[in-house]
Amino acid sequence: MKNISGYSKLSKQQKVDWLVENYLNKDEAAKEELISYWHQNAATQKTLDEFSENTITNYFFPFSVAPNFLINGEWYCLPMAIEESSVVAAMSNSGKFWSERGGYHAEVISTTKVGQVHFKFSGDKAYLIEQFPKLKTSLLEGGKYLSVNMDARGGGVLDIELVDMTAHEANYFQLKVSFETCDSMGANFINTILEEYATQLKEFVHNDATFNGEIKIILSIVSNYTPHCLVRAWVECKVEDLGIVGGLPAEEFAEKVRMAVKIAEVDPHRATTHNKGIYNGVDAVIIATGNDFRAVEACGHTYAARNGSYSSLTHCTVNEGIFKFWIDLPLAVGTVGGLTQIHPLVKRSLQILGNPNAKQLMIFCAVAGLAQNFAALRALTTVGIQQGHMKMHLLNILNYLEATEEEKNYALEYFKDKIVSFTTTRVMLEQYRSAKQAVK
Ligand code: MEV
Repeated sequence: MKNISGYSKLSKQQKVDWLVENYLNKDEAAKEELISYWHQNAATQKTLDEFSENTITNYFFPFSVAPNFLINGEWYCLPMAIEESSVVAAMSNSGKFWSERGGYHAEVISTTKVGQVHFKFSGDKAYLIEQFPKLKTSLLEGGKYLSVNMDARGGGVLDIELVDMTAHEANYFQLKVSFETCDSMGANFINTILEEYATQLKEFVHNDATFNGEIKIILSIVSNYTPHCLVRAWVECKVEDLGIVGGLPAEEFAEKVRMAVKIAEVDPHRATTHNKGIYNGVDAVIIATGNDFRAVEACGHTYAARNGSYSSLTHCTVNEGIFKFWIDLPLAVGTVGGLTQIHPLVKRSLQILGNPNAKQLMIFCAVAGLAQNFAALRALTTVGIQQGHMKMHLLNILNYLEATEEEKNYALEYFKDKIVSFTTTRVMLEQYRSAKQAVK
């Protein structure tokens, strides 16, 4: 049977059995493989299983570190969970390059988050606007019981605004609520408060006949767009201190990087790839530290389009002999709550980073994005991306073709001056193997 009811109620073993029976050709080897990835420690496995639903096994990703990051005068080693070849190597190179030129600098500019209650009001708009200050006081008071802990940590609700959206849709308004959520990412806290405000808003209007209308709640949810939860990271040095980079004299290199950033600022096609490279670094740290990379990426891309056209998240100037390269990145991250205390490798990542607070983690992520972008631009404006990339890609192809260590060493030498592709690698391997056979 290709469909089933009650799958979620089956034991894990039964889930695997059903899957193999119905979708994996009853292949016993497939079953064994899936089970072989279960963690040897049953308690750890249970923790992992409970992150999600219908879990049948674990999905492995490389967990790496990029050492040599001098950030605001302190040394760090950045944990990264990412599968893409070359990203960690590029990151490490950038770490070292800038550690020899004053290191990375970063500061958190602001930490405000936002949630919205979207609703319709059937009565007089002017009256709703006039009564809003009273309504706001009532909501702030009425929701306080839910923010006792957050208030004690120095956070909580900062403000509530009424936003008139009737130009877009008749009777449509928002409560736009701003929050400080301290070291937690805050989505759960924000959603809880918003749902409470939605209920209280409805009651407030319903119980007061002077409103002469009703509230219809459409939805209440955190906004993943946090332009005011913003961090800046930058590097700078004298142009001459860049040295010879990829065979280019410092001045030429600086100018090419400036121009490469300019291209990403004005051309959305290039900006998308440019920013994708930035998120190679950001996401790897976000995933390693148990944060939500979908939220972080969605936010960054919206921010990149905030002026009406999708643009670069990094910027570069070359002025009066100084090369300056920076990123402004909106980031809502947490170092408490969520997976942070329960995923074993997330805990370890945070420990590697010195158990940072959320602001420090924002800094690490922005630095990772900037470093990754610098590495990409450095390669792209000098030797090209394929040289470094393809060496790593070659290893993936060789692994796929089940090459031995001896074959891999031969291939690395062979492809030093040749173009790597799946076909060229396969042909090379076939020739190497038949030559070896012939000798035997
Ligand atoms: C590849 O994952 C990322 C790059 O394409 C980024 C860029 O082009 O800037 C190399």
